[in-house]
Amino acid sequence: MTAQRIQIFDTTLRDGEQVPGCKLNREEKLVIARQLELLGVDVIEAGFPVSSPGDFTAVQSIAAQTKEATVCGLTRAVENDIRVAAEALKLARYPRIHTGIGTSELHVKYKLCSTQELVLERAIAAVKLAKSFVEDVEFYAEDAGRTDNVYLARVCEAVIKAGATVLNIPDTTGYCLPEEYGAKIRFLRENVKGIENVTLSTHCHNDLGLATANSIAGVVHGARQIECTINGVGERAGNTALEEVVMILRQHPYLNLDTNINTKLLTETSTMVSHMMGMPVQANKAIVGANAFSHSSGIHQDGVIKHRETYEIIDPREVGAPDSSIVLTARSGRAALGYRLQKIGYAFNKSVLDQAYASFLVLADRKKEVVDEDLHILVEQENLVA
Ligand code: KIV
Ligand code: ZN
Repeated sequence: MTAQRIQIFDTTLRDGEQVPGCKLNREEKLVIARQLELLGVDVIEAGFPVSSPGDFTAVQSIAAQTKEATVCGLTRAVENDIRVAAEALKLARYPRIHTGIGTSELHVKYKLCSTQELVLERAIAAVKLAKSFVEDVEFYAEDAGRTDNVYLARVCEAVIKAGATVLNIPDTTGYCLPEEYGAKIRFLRENVKGIENVTLSTHCHNDLGLATANSIAGVVHGARQIECTINGVGERAGNTALEEVVMILRQHPYLNLDTNINTKLLTETSTMVSHMMGMPVQANKAIVGANAFSHSSGIHQDGVIKHRETYEIIDPREVGAPDSSIVLTARSGRAALGYRLQKIGYAFNKSVLDQAYASFLVLADRKKEVVDEDLHILVEQENLVA
């Protein structure tokens, strides 16, 4: 059975760029947008056009250069935002306006100083206005994660009637548990008239480290678009990491859900975004971290040397990463040392290897990592011969 397609909506250039100190210039945004298209994302959220003249021109240029992907611009449910976004997206082959408003009690009462009824009216008016410019209108119910499901369903039904094509259900504050978020998506599917004619989208933040799990729960319960960023960059603890959701779906074919992403470009895309944003990727980051495919403890190294899959669920080549590495530390065993010595040209018998291992441990206790150069010196100093 062919897997159902999950649309990947990348918001690295909009929500991701909201990271403090991560300003990208127009040229950098164009380069990243080109890479995202190569990667195979379905939607590029290029920016928030009304926010600054620079963001407006960046969205305009990305709209003009992008051939296959939909190009999206964010707005609030504010007339001028929508008009400006429509202008910025004029040259896009597939333009989308992403408009919305806060729907949780906290947002309605304290941020908008409004009422549920007035918010509903603003949502409808925003979608209608956006629809007068473009066919493809996505509506976000900000803080949907903490919005009462019955009110959320009313808002969703109303904006579908007004012409929305995609409904974004953001867990803006990263509050939900996966069961809760999945149940919210299921509730909307079961209770909103016309929902079968639109795409439900997840947009999860990582404040509790649950963004990826929540996004997966969302698609398992019927969402068909995931909003995410490269390396999970974004405000506070960030957004759902694109590389994680893509590889989870790829690694679990029984879910029967897949994306259009060329996974072999994940590592180079991660490196590009990290360098341009000046945001290093943590070494133990899933999929793209420097240690994602390196093994340093003796037990694991022994297993991987015998059969890679004993401790690796992904072939590094699948994500464009260099081969798995066996890192030599004081926790490494004889098997790893023998393997690395052999790789650099020394095939020792057991007793010589035992001798090498004893000297190696002394060295490894002093150094964090023993590299090939150290091994050559060790062999020479100890006078080891095959
Ligand atoms: O997190 C959020 O709610 C957002 C919306 C503006 C889509 O980023
Ligand atoms: Zn967000």
